[in-house]
Formats: sequence, C-alpha cells, structure tokens
Amino acid sequence: MNVTREQAAGVLAGNWLGTSTVPSRSLYPHQWSWDSAFIAIGLRHLAPARARRELQTLFSAQWRDGRVPHIVFDPGTPPEAYFPGPGFWRAGRTSGIVQPPVHARAVLAVHQAEPDHAFLAALYPKLRAWHEYLLGARDAGGRGLAAIVHPWESGMDNSPAWDGPLSRVTPAAGFVRRDLEHGCAADRPSDEDYGRYVRLAADYRDSGYAGTGGFVVEDPGFNALLADAELALAEIAEALGLPSDPHRETAARVAKALQETLWDSASGWFFARDVRTGSLTPQYTCSGLLPLLLPDLAVAPALLATATGPRFRLGRVHGVPSHDLTAPGFDPGRYWRGPSWFNVGWLVRQGLLHHGEHALAAQLGEDLVETAARTGFAEYCDPLTGQGHGTREFSWTAALTVDLLAQPAAVA
Ligand code: SER
Repeated sequence: MNVTREQAAGVLAGNWLGTSTVPSRSLYPHQWSWDSAFIAIGLRHLAPARARRELQTLFSAQWRDGRVPHIVFDPGTPPEAYFPGPGFWRAGRTSGIVQPPVHARAVLAVHQAEPDHAFLAALYPKLRAWHEYLLGARDAGGRGLAAIVHPWESGMDNSPAWDGPLSRVTPAAGFVRRDLEHGCAADRPSDEDYGRYVRLAADYRDSGYAGTGGFVVEDPGFNALLADAELALAEIAEALGLPSDPHRETAARVAKALQETLWDSASGWFFARDVRTGSLTPQYTCSGLLPLLLPDLAVAPALLATATGPRFRLGRVHGVPSHDLTAPGFDPGRYWRGPSWFNVGWLVRQGLLHHGEHALAAQLGEDLVETAARTGFAEYCDPLTGQGHGTREFSWTAALTVDLLAQPAAVA
C-alpha cells in the first residue's frame, strides 16, 4: 500500500467513533454533515460498509421537514468538549442549521465503489426530501435558489463575503469558546465574528428554526453544490429504475438562476447575494468558483480566466485560496479568509475535469496529495507557502487524499 494512503487510512481509523467519523478528535468531536459526505467519498475505497454507515448515521438524524442537521452530537462525548453543544441548540441530538448539500454526490460515489441497491433505495427518498427542503422552505429570496441563514451553513464560516450581512448582527456575549482550546487563535475566526455566530444561532433557535433573521444570503457555492447534487440524484434515480428527468430539470433551473442572479460578467466571478439588501457582496471568494462543477456552465471560460489570474493564481499556488490574494483583507492563515481548504481543491479539480482542463486538474490533484501528506493532513494550508494550518489529522483531508490516490488522472 502507498505510504500516504496508509497514513490517511490511519487518520480515518483513529477518527472513527463506531458509526460515524469525527472531523477531528480535538476541534470537532461529533459528526458534521458535509464532512461526513467527503469522508464517505474516501472511505469507499478503504471500507465501503463503513462509508455507507457514515451516511446512514447522518441521515438517521434528518429532521421531519427534510433538513439534514449540520452536527449530530455523539452522546459519549462530554458536553464541554464543544460549544455550541446540544444544550444550546435544544434540538435533541442535533444542531438546527444545515451545511452544503454534497450528500447525493457522496451516496452515488459510495454506490459506484460497491453497488448496493438497498443502500441506494433507502437513501434516495431522504435525499429528495433534503433537496425539497432547501428549494422550498429555504427559497427566501424567491429566485429559485436556497438561502443560508447562518455563515456556518455555507461551511465557510468567516468568509469575507459575510462581513456586510454580518455587520447588522450584534455579537452575543457570556459564552466560552471551546475551539480556542484546540486551535491557534490566529488560525480561527475572531471573537467578534464568533459572538455574531452565536447571536444568529440563538435567534434562529428561538424562532423555532423557521425564521429568517438579519443574515439571509444566496451563496454561489452552496447552490452550485445543490445543482450538482440534483445531477447526482438523477443518476441515483436511473440506477433505481426511476424517472430522472425531474432532477435534471431542477439542476438546470438552479444553474440558470445562479447565472442570472449571482454571476457578474464585468468581474468574471460569482458573488453571494445579501437577500436583505438585494445587493451582491463584492468579495471574490472560493465559493464563487464552485459553479465550475456544472458541466453546462456557459461562463466557465470567463470564470477560469479569473481563477488563473492574479486573484487566485490557480496552478501557481497551493490549492485554491479561499479569498482573493490581492484583497487587503487576505490572510493566508485565518480559517476562510485566505487559506486553501482540501475539500474546495478536490471540488475545483472535479470542475476542471468537467471543462476539459486536464493538465490543471492533474497538477491540482498532485499538489493536494503532496500538501496533505507533508502537513500531517492539515485542516487547511497557506496557499503561498504550503504550510499547514488549523488542526491536523483532519478527516476530510485524509479521505480526499485517499480518493485522489485512487484516481490515476489526479497524479499522472
Ligand atoms: N465550523 C463551525 C465551528 O467551527 C461550526 O460548524 O464549530
């Protein structure tokens, strides 16, 4: 076995709780929604049954309204290990917000690695309900896009794109951050941002997880992943002998809405929309590159021109920077304000392959594997130096490394 693959498998074994995998034993000691999808994509090569279990465990906590919660709490982990814990959310064994819908893609990938009709048939209606929730209850802007109501829902917590909408939120006080006990403060969101996250989450909780507060945003990354997930659902439906056209039509509708409302042709980038003001948030972030995942994206050449230009220098830096390298607020080490994340790199590599950019995809794949192995499977890295940041032995970094190593094109 390749040494890196063996080390990555060791990380995933060490982070396995018995029915799911923690993103990190120290910083994130429960099950996280989009982490589990990426973890399953890697686990399918090592232990397909465990990959299926990972996703089944997550979906066993799906809410009646279809939402898949962003955290499923592990009952064996002490309450003080993570804040905000179950006592804060008051939603039983889960949190009440969501994360990007990458699960249909993961379910399909797991099935492709080891076909299992029963697994696919059981997950299909759950995935449908999940997407229906996002395109129904979450279409706050009425434009056919899912809105997020908390920065954590984007998965890109302190992205500079949220600074405008977040500035309307008064930070909460009187809580203890647990993340700083495990991570270096310079790599994590600021106290002020954290206070705003807590305020928004408390307000949403107090609305019965149905209201929309000060933060309501249409995020290009979240919606690109939703359109891609509908395409995966179409393939799942086909494998089950069910009609797939409705899913392809939904994917096309979301893709059209994305291009009509979040694309800025003068800038050559997708931007998030603040639903409260109706304006696009002006920051170039890696979320704006994720529509590259959509195979029929007419604006792909312009988007790629921006990505390979001075703002992101794709192919000339490590991974995909989370924020514009030329922006005054670019910070190469702080969470989503500059560093490169491995899941984003993995997604962008997929997008490059869809658009015939094989050389760039191979280069990105090689770089992701090399950086992951060299940094001990860091959570994220400095795009300019490749230095690791955040926690180490991070599950999705390990899982996606295993997946890349299984695809010869990635390291050719
Ligand atoms: N990513 C957030 C955290 O740092 C919430 O899921 O805890």
